[in-house]
Formats: sequence, C-alpha cells, structure tokens
Amino acid sequence: MKVNMNQIAIYPGSFDPVTNGHLDIIKRAAKLYDHLIIAVASNMEKKTPLFTIDERINMLREVCSNLPNVEVDSFKGLLVDYAKKRSASTLVKGLRAVSDFEYELQMALTNRKLNPDVETIFMMTAFRYIYLSSSIVKQVALVGGNTDGMVPPLVAEKLIQKAKELGRE
Ligand code: COA
Repeated sequence: MKVNMNQIAIYPGSFDPVTNGHLDIIKRAAKLYDHLIIAVASNMEKKTPLFTIDERINMLREVCSNLPNVEVDSFKGLLVDYAKKRSASTLVKGLRAVSDFEYELQMALTNRKLNPDVETIFMMTAFRYIYLSSSIVKQVALVGGNTDGMVPPLVAEKLIQKAKELGRE
C-alpha cells in the first residue's frame, strides 16, 4: 500500500558509509513511497568524514541500483529547504534504540518549526541492526576487523581499501 499523500520522501544522513541498517530502512521506505531520495549531507557538522561525498554517493548508488524508485543525491544547508526544492513533504528517519529518540525528536521539532509542511516519519530499524552505526563499522574496519554482515560487500571492500590507504590495515 502506498502512502496516499505526497509521494516523494527524503531519507537524509551522512552515510559515512552506508550500513546494512540504512539499507534495511531504504528498502522498506522505497515500498511506501513512489520516489525515495537518499540525501547525503555534504556539510557534516559533527566530524570530518572518512569517505568523500562522491565516494559516499557512489557506494549508495551501487547498493541501491536494484531499487528503481530510489535516487541518490547530495544536499547542503537546511534539510527542509532541500525538501522544498525537491517537492518532498516527508522526511524518513530510522530509530534504533531509545537513545536515538531525544536527538531525533529535537531534529524533527526543529525541522517542523523551520517548515511545518515537512513531516518526519520514523521507522524502527530491524532488530538485527539495532547496534550498528557508521562509526562502529569504521572503528572495526580501520583496525582490520571483519565487517561482513554489517555493511554490503562493496562497502566492506571500500573500507579495506581505505584502511590500506591510511596505513591502518
Ligand atoms: N542503521 C544503522 N545506523 C544508523 C541507522 C540505521 N538504521 N540510522 C542511523 N544510523 C546511524 C548513522 O550511521 C549515524 O552514525 P554515526 O553517528 O556513527 O555516523 C548515526 O546513526 C546518526 O544518524 P542520523 O541521525 O541519520 O544522522 P547523520 O549524522 O547521518 O545525518 C542529518 C544528520 C544530515 C540528517 C542532519 O544533520 C541534517 O539534517 N543536517 C542538515 C542541516 C539541518 O537542516 N539542520 C537542522 C535540522 S536539526
């Protein structure tokens, strides 16, 4: 069943890198909306990314290549402004544990204050991925750990390459 409102949704994030937890949300959200835009943040407030914006976008494009209604794009500035530009009225966010709630609530309410026409929808992350984050995956990979099952195989390969480039293998 499709959501019978605006049919364009945005799944935003830094995706540094995309994990199986993200991919689970992407596949489920793609079933609900006609068009799902994965919006990769190019200006990340929190830290310097491991992967460049182009690397993050290319990995997402490859792992979503079998999902015809999914587009991968990047954005700068306010997310609600990007949503307006792309005529999307829904933001999809994944919730993992209770600890995500406070931060996500703050972001959802800020976004609503900035633009009340943009609604945030939360999806529960699949239980098997509840522990995952991009940081934990990087932490494992950069000291030579095995990330199988945490990220798509292509991303696991890119992490191994990065570790080599950084001399951390
Ligand atoms: N599976 C696995 N990991 C998940 C996940 C899932 N389903 N959902 C979230 N995560 C992880 C992410 O990998 C990320 O991990 P990290 O901190 O180790 O990198 C962490 O949870 C936080 O994810 P998220 O809440 O999506 O944040 P983000 O940093 O990836 O992206 C933006 C945040 C880009 C959406 C947000 O900063 C933004 O909207 N910026 C634009 C500026 C703006 O409009 N600001 C005003 C709004 S407050």
